[in-house]
Amino acid sequence: CERDDGKPFRQRLLVVANRLPVSAVRRGEDSWSLEISAGGLVSALLGVKEFEARWIGWAGVNVPDEIGQKALTKALAEKRCIPVFLDEEIVHQYYNGYCNNILWPLFHYLGLPQEDRLATTRSFQSQFTAYQKANQMFADVVNEHYEEGDVVWCHDYHLMFLPQCLKKYNSNMKVGWFLHTPFPSSEIHRTLPSRSELLHAVLAADLVGFHTYDYARHFVSACTRILGLEGTPEGVEYQGKLTRVAAFPIGIDSHRFKRALELPEVQKHIKDLEERFKHRKVMLGVDRLDMIKGIPQKILAFEKFLEENPDWREKVVLLQIAVPTRTDVPEYQKLTSQVHEIVGRINGRFGSLTAVPIHHLDRSLDFYALCALYAVTDVALVTSLRDGMNLVSYEFVACQAKKKGVLILSEFAGAAQSLGAGAILVNPWNITEVAAAIDKALNMEPVERQNRHKHNFEHVTQHTAQEWAETFVSELNDTVVEAQLRTKQ
Ligand code: G6P
Repeated sequence: CERDDGKPFRQRLLVVANRLPVSAVRRGEDSWSLEISAGGLVSALLGVKEFEARWIGWAGVNVPDEIGQKALTKALAEKRCIPVFLDEEIVHQYYNGYCNNILWPLFHYLGLPQEDRLATTRSFQSQFTAYQKANQMFADVVNEHYEEGDVVWCHDYHLMFLPQCLKKYNSNMKVGWFLHTPFPSSEIHRTLPSRSELLHAVLAADLVGFHTYDYARHFVSACTRILGLEGTPEGVEYQGKLTRVAAFPIGIDSHRFKRALELPEVQKHIKDLEERFKHRKVMLGVDRLDMIKGIPQKILAFEKFLEENPDWREKVVLLQIAVPTRTDVPEYQKLTSQVHEIVGRINGRFGSLTAVPIHHLDRSLDFYALCALYAVTDVALVTSLRDGMNLVSYEFVACQAKKKGVLILSEFAGAAQSLGAGAILVNPWNITEVAAAIDKALNMEPVERQNRHKHNFEHVTQHTAQEWAETFVSELNDTVVEAQLRTKQ
């Protein structure tokens, strides 16, 4: 197998994530159409040139029949993807239940289910069992496709059991696990009934990675405090070996954005948007419609700003792109109605017959439309209540070479640790503070905007997705070699 430039690949890389980088739509009994979903992880790994990457994951659809499964497997093989088939009940208990109703809120400091969320949690134990079962199903598929020398890179909170399952199959497998969300303080993690089982399962990996040093530190503290293990600056001593724990901040493929902005159709789109909003400053929010993103708080802060600054009412617009997500989980359904209610109220309060202050879209935009929107934005609002990293902030910066707009960024997003010096950092829970930050951003002098932008632009263009992935995989290889040397001594 060869790379595009004709050289051989250094190694095979099996990337295992809950979701495959393509979404599948059934067109007939044995026909499927596939669409690449360009998330952060996908673009990160597209840029990895040294490794021959294969993806293993769930295609996001229920395929109960053998004919459909065979046809989908064949179609996915062309995209170097291997499906894990999960039935509806498992998806309900493992994905909607344990992953999205328990682990996701807990890791983002929203706590374990209470009251109505508890009522929708049928049974913690059966969800946990389904979670383990689903992880085992992923492990079976990995094991079937594994070849000696492969690197196996497991991703995210959906697959915390995977390292342990894989090592049970083959203790020589090189296994890394990376978490894309925050890892919370050990005081939060210890509330989880299955706290120890999850830590043990992750510690079976050779390398455990997080976006920030803080998350890595929280994980090591959880292992020392809850499991009574020994933590070292390199990681955690576990069953006679060292499980390496470190921070690997993700990045984006900034060139992809640069290239897109040069395309005539994107330039045209930019001109149209500039014409459309020529009398207004554009503020932008792009988020999955998730409670961790702090969308209601952001909109309330914008309302406060309009309330306190009547002169700005006709001169600014907030474009909020809210991408629907996990729509089967009741919490997400409630959030959608709550956001609609607030947006309606504010538009009713401050809108006129010809204009409204908030344009709220419940859908995603295609990549080129998004690039154009980023490019015309004066102020981006990324006000997550908690966020592993948040790549929207990076994407915005990458598209601002000309405009040098201002980024308002939550101090609770991992990105605050890399873009903090260039952004205006805010506590998203403090609506008065966010309203003041909007005021400051809209009135910022060009020199200050340029300086802030320069700092962030350098970071985003230098610390790319490709660098992230290559560093993780190299570190995983090195960790295994060092462990082998240590056992020989
Ligand atoms: C977060 C998670 C990802 C997940 C994505 C979309 O970024 O870290 O693992 O894929 O959200 O969520 P979904 O549930 O639709 O896969």
